[in-house]
Amino acid sequence: MVEKKYGHFDDANREYVITDPKTPWPWINYLGNEDFFSLISNTAGGYSFYKDAKFRRLTRYRYNGVPMDNGGRYFYIKDGDTVWNPGWKPCKTPLDSYECRHGMNYTRITGSKNGVEASVLFFVPLHTWAEVQKMTLKNLSHEAKALKVFSFAEWCLWNAATDMENFQRNFSTGEVEIEGSTLYHKTEYRERRNHYAFYTVNTEIQGYDTDRESFIGLYNEFAEPEAVLEGKPRNSFAHGWSPIASHYIEVTLKPGESRDLIFLLGYVENEQDKKFSAKKVINKEKAHQLINKFDTTEKVDAAFAELNQYWDNLLNIFTVKSGNDKLDRMVNIWNQYQCMITFCMSRSASFFESGIGRGMGFRDSNQDLVGFVHQIPTRARQRIIDIASTQFPDGGCYHQYQPLTKRGNNDIGGGFNDDPCWLIFGTVAYIKETGDFSILSEQVPFDNQPGSEVSLFEHLKISMNHVINNLGPHKLPLIGRADWNDCLNLNCFSWDPNESFQTTENKGEGSKAESLMIAGLFVVTGKDYVALCKQLAKEAANSHEGTIAGLAEEDYLVEAERMQQAVDEMNEAVKQHGWDGEWVLRAYDFFGNKIGSNENEEGKIFIESQGWCTMAGIGLEEGLCAKALDSAKERLECEHGMVLNNPAYTTYHVEMGEISSYPEGYKENAGIFCHNNPWVIIGETVAGRGNDAWNHYTKILPSYVEEKYQTLHKVEPYVNCQMVAGKDAAKPGEGKNSWLTGTAAWMWYTVSEFILGIKPDYEGLNIDPCLPSTAHEYEVTRKFRGGEYHIIVKNPEGREKGVKQITVDGKTIDGTIIPCQKGKHEVIVEM
Ligand code: GLC
Ligand code: GLC
Repeated sequence: MVEKKYGHFDDANREYVITDPKTPWPWINYLGNEDFFSLISNTAGGYSFYKDAKFRRLTRYRYNGVPMDNGGRYFYIKDGDTVWNPGWKPCKTPLDSYECRHGMNYTRITGSKNGVEASVLFFVPLHTWAEVQKMTLKNLSHEAKALKVFSFAEWCLWNAATDMENFQRNFSTGEVEIEGSTLYHKTEYRERRNHYAFYTVNTEIQGYDTDRESFIGLYNEFAEPEAVLEGKPRNSFAHGWSPIASHYIEVTLKPGESRDLIFLLGYVENEQDKKFSAKKVINKEKAHQLINKFDTTEKVDAAFAELNQYWDNLLNIFTVKSGNDKLDRMVNIWNQYQCMITFCMSRSASFFESGIGRGMGFRDSNQDLVGFVHQIPTRARQRIIDIASTQFPDGGCYHQYQPLTKRGNNDIGGGFNDDPCWLIFGTVAYIKETGDFSILSEQVPFDNQPGSEVSLFEHLKISMNHVINNLGPHKLPLIGRADWNDCLNLNCFSWDPNESFQTTENKGEGSKAESLMIAGLFVVTGKDYVALCKQLAKEAANSHEGTIAGLAEEDYLVEAERMQQAVDEMNEAVKQHGWDGEWVLRAYDFFGNKIGSNENEEGKIFIESQGWCTMAGIGLEEGLCAKALDSAKERLECEHGMVLNNPAYTTYHVEMGEISSYPEGYKENAGIFCHNNPWVIIGETVAGRGNDAWNHYTKILPSYVEEKYQTLHKVEPYVNCQMVAGKDAAKPGEGKNSWLTGTAAWMWYTVSEFILGIKPDYEGLNIDPCLPSTAHEYEVTRKFRGGEYHIIVKNPEGREKGVKQITVDGKTIDGTIIPCQKGKHEVIVEM
């Protein structure tokens, strides 16, 4: 059966075009990239917030509602007796045409009905605390039209959590002001708050509403506001209950005539001594300035052009031309876009993350970094310092920190023993991209305590030491609360459903629980660390002070030696105690029993350790990597990607924790956790198996899934989701938790550095592709440290790996590293 399609890619415009509003799940986009953010679905649902989706929520949203995705910025158009919305919802009046275009930080929704077209462009201009909604109304008919247009936004009482809970207070606090066409929301402004929001339109209005019940009617739905149905605004003034903002505008259009209405939903903060312009009246000066900046079509169009230019610049840093549209559109547009969104949001706000949950993850943030470091390296630098500042003196670290305060989160604490290694991973990626070794001399505190500062390099060192100092009986890393897999809780032993698996520890002392995933991660990042030390020795020798981060050439060589030994020992430990015969074990449990072994009945094999130990190349010469990769292919792979473990656990195992609490085939219990598929893919490239790598890669590449499974897959076809239901699930192939996932960065890292093979390195770009034999030629343009490299890779014989020769500007170079040079360069790579 051929599946129904709900949309298609428009690569020239960098858009995904949705042609049916009834998508299998709301397909959303993100507006804003700095301070002011909005989520917007294909029917204009969603909400806005300033910086923090929990503490500064501007408009209200109800999760998990019935129907799904109710609430958003709605325009009601009343044309005679027909009321419709350009985005179909909430009235769901059948439209004559509908289209939603999600682009880079903007969305355009166009609907038409009875000879009237309404097209609304939504975006947050650069450096602006406001969402612009530019509505263009067009009379396509042969008669004059007299339309009644109502806008609608519902305010959130700032704190998204208490807004949903504390009704005894909330229903009495709401306050608004009205001035001309601007409707202000100023709840709690009198006391500690110094901020307000507003919703305005660049024309005179013929009425308004600011009280939800007056506008909608207590027993009505968003689909049937009484004021709209009657075509009469109530001119209501909210006191408590639920403040809203709705403009009423009468628009007459001659045949063929069109008119723009520009709405602006903005946010303002005032200085403490400039809060009021008169007793109880908010000082609106900044709002006026903001409104002035976007009150004409010309000004808005200019701001929109600037936003597009911003994205041109970000996306021009790495582009590929391969002749395969499905690859090119992911690499050039959507994968990079998703990485930036994940950087902005971390794991906070999506249609699966409520924005009131967790803070920023230590490991998550380090991994996200490889997805955007080439685009905004200065923000990556700051992120690394922020993350490292939540480390403890013994190298352990807070598992999460709060973005507003940047403090470690005490509720969760530390003890996730993979965390420290990720700091190496992120920092090395930053230095390789930028060549900025000075970051290692930055003085960074422990647990944000002033006076405790040491160099960032010292933080890296203690990160490595943390693993070495926490080895178990097999000289493998102790797992702690969990490693990357938050749900493999080997020291938890919880029988109480009210306990958190991540923070409960009922058997801490004397644990023998060791992780093969951390072992592989340690070897990979340990090798990186050794290479970094050697590079630092060189840099120190060349610097006129003779030191870097306070250490001399000799110190770095000694440190490199020390860590190489630890890496070698770990390598041996994995081969001796971690090899199960056909693949790598996953772990030893509290008692020292094997997990992820052929001896087990369920959970015989896990993906994480196959991925990391093959990325590390452990046992490559002896053929262990090839075996582990074959086993992964055989046992973990299915039509939709590779599952996390196999077979799935069918009962709860107290000694394993959360993983065994999930139904089979979902989440960490044998779901396709897309995040870790790239680890095996990279492992395949290390082993030189380009066809296998490509095969695994395209199974979870959104553009390939888009072509086949829009209905089954359910979630947005232009981005990766965290999890796709695995082969043991009731409905394999169904995607969940889209947008905010480490998958984005890993997909990017995999395709850019390991498949296309353009790897930033200390001295230049290292070229080392690993390709499917069908790939005969492609071009990459890569901007890198002031140079621009046009790289043509030729592979006439269809080789999977191995560079024969590289010429730069016509001259053959030694080895595979293109040295850094300013200006434009032509590079030809022969496989
Ligand atoms: C989630 C978490 C991440 C964790 C993963 C696997 O994506 O954000 O930190 O590693 O789940 O449990
Ligand atoms: C749950 C999820 C896991 C996530 C964790 C965050 O355990 O299964 O993916 O990392 O919550 O705390």
